[in-house]
Amino acid sequence: MTTNKKLEAWVKEIADMCQPDQIYWCDGSQEENDRLLKEMVDSGMAKPLNPEKRPGCYSFNSDPSDVARVENRTYIASKTKEEAGPTNNWVDPNELKDTMKNLYKGCMKGRTMYVIPFSMGPIGSPISKIGVELTDSAYVVVNMRIMTRIGKKVLETLGDGEFVPCLHSVGAPLAEGEKDAKWPCAPIEKKYISHFPEEKTIWSYGSGYGGNALLGKKCFALRIASVIAREEGWLAEHMLILKLTDPKGNVKYICGAFPSACGKTNLAMLVPTIPGWKVETIGDDIAWMKFGKDGRLYAINPEAGFFGVAPGTSLDSNPNAMHSIEKNTIFTNVGVTDDGDVWWEGMGVDAPAHLIDWHGKDWTPGSESPAAHPNARFTAPASQCPVIAPEWEDPAGVPISAILIGGRRPSTIPLVHQSFDWNHGVFLGSIMGSEITAAAISDKIGQVRRDPFAMLPFIGYNVNDYLQHWLDVGAASTEDKLPKIFYVNWFRKDENGKWLWPGYGENSRVLKWICERVSGEGKAVKTEIGYMPTEDAIDVEGLNISAEDMEELLKVKKDEWLKEVESIKAHYETYDINKVPAELKKQLADLEARLKA
Ligand code: OXD
Ligand code: MN
Repeated sequence: MTTNKKLEAWVKEIADMCQPDQIYWCDGSQEENDRLLKEMVDSGMAKPLNPEKRPGCYSFNSDPSDVARVENRTYIASKTKEEAGPTNNWVDPNELKDTMKNLYKGCMKGRTMYVIPFSMGPIGSPISKIGVELTDSAYVVVNMRIMTRIGKKVLETLGDGEFVPCLHSVGAPLAEGEKDAKWPCAPIEKKYISHFPEEKTIWSYGSGYGGNALLGKKCFALRIASVIAREEGWLAEHMLILKLTDPKGNVKYICGAFPSACGKTNLAMLVPTIPGWKVETIGDDIAWMKFGKDGRLYAINPEAGFFGVAPGTSLDSNPNAMHSIEKNTIFTNVGVTDDGDVWWEGMGVDAPAHLIDWHGKDWTPGSESPAAHPNARFTAPASQCPVIAPEWEDPAGVPISAILIGGRRPSTIPLVHQSFDWNHGVFLGSIMGSEITAAAISDKIGQVRRDPFAMLPFIGYNVNDYLQHWLDVGAASTEDKLPKIFYVNWFRKDENGKWLWPGYGENSRVLKWICERVSGEGKAVKTEIGYMPTEDAIDVEGLNISAEDMEELLKVKKDEWLKEVESIKAHYETYDINKVPAELKKQLADLEARLKA
């Protein structure tokens, strides 16, 4: 299968430990994909959807306990706790390996072990990296085939080179003659999503779902890649990448970091409401950025598909996502209608009188629980997106002009402001986050969950070193070549709780100002918090918004910002104030001084 001695030896070592019935090397072909899907349909795990309405589409329901990433079972097992830092779960790597080896022993009995060679990024790009995932889940294989580039060509490109070993098991060994559960997985206390940063190795056990099991995504492309990026002087980030074209045909590429559930996929596929402007998609979740010879940062999307949240996705909120999932898509935990189509809450079409919900049970509009799990997903090839940019697979990447950061902040943070420079932008990245609104965690309502660059669950090392790395990256180039950093907030509310900004396609108005700032034309005033658009700088032509609301959206409220300063101080304390980069502490002190001046 391979001439790569290290790979051959590793596959044998894992097979000896996990004891699968057989080993299968994935070639990534259509025939292989069809066969695996048919096997899963025959076993009852997958349901084929109506070939007229959703050609090539399948629906899966997970175990009710296995529906999302499990942050409290996710470990950064660096040699020391200090290297993992204050925001990661840490266990001594030797101890964790012993625990997991016990679990892995014989865990693939009765199952096939699939070998999936995969490339993060276009095969052969100088920015791309290769991994190999060993898994006992065919569901993982068919999802990895959409989300990454897999198979023969990757093995050929790998040759005798280096790869990131990614081991995955659903953690449900079969007794002799036992039949597989519909969705095998282990109970929560046996789930482990483990990263060994020094070895650049990933071990995942007990979950079959999303980011826990498709190891190319969060585990490799963010946690392990962030460690590699720090060593090699580049950035592995939780960011969308979009291409913005103005009416004259000028193109700018923009990255954006937003915490989960802030509309990253929607922004990446936005339909502008201002005439003549165009948005095209490069990626919706992850960006790898490296310096080109010209000193600019170039980004690639290391993924090949979208693993998007279904509920709330509609022809109104994201028509391009809806068109991306018309065919060849895997749906997980959605409702399936009697005519074999999919349905979820917020799909923008009336609920049918009857469907089968994500538990596999009868459901009617009168049912008490939702038809789709709130974290139900679609896995769709990026190439099916109607606005995918032609250069989305360019191995050289695209030059980034602006980086957006943001979160859900009903108060304080204006619609948009631009950092004074790179270091001030890193400061803004370090304080971004969303206000907690979920009723379940009521004692924290109104508090801000700070999520630096939306990477809190994905930094593979110490958060303080991560922020220092951002500062170091800036120091490696010059301000005129570095992307400009903008803090946006689509989620401002008035005192009655009404949204002040319409969002969605209207966000193009803010993108327009950002584009103008990058090319040196956009009008701005210097304020205590950064550069803000002048009163008339944001194009609101044709938008039904009052002058008062615009004023409110673009006001620096000093009293609220002074409270913010106190909250940031408390936030830095949780990172150990002595270890927070000195430059960021200086930025905070300068902000406070400007506000008090
Ligand atoms: C994702 C996430 O699934 O950020 O992309 O949770
Ligand atoms: Mn994400």
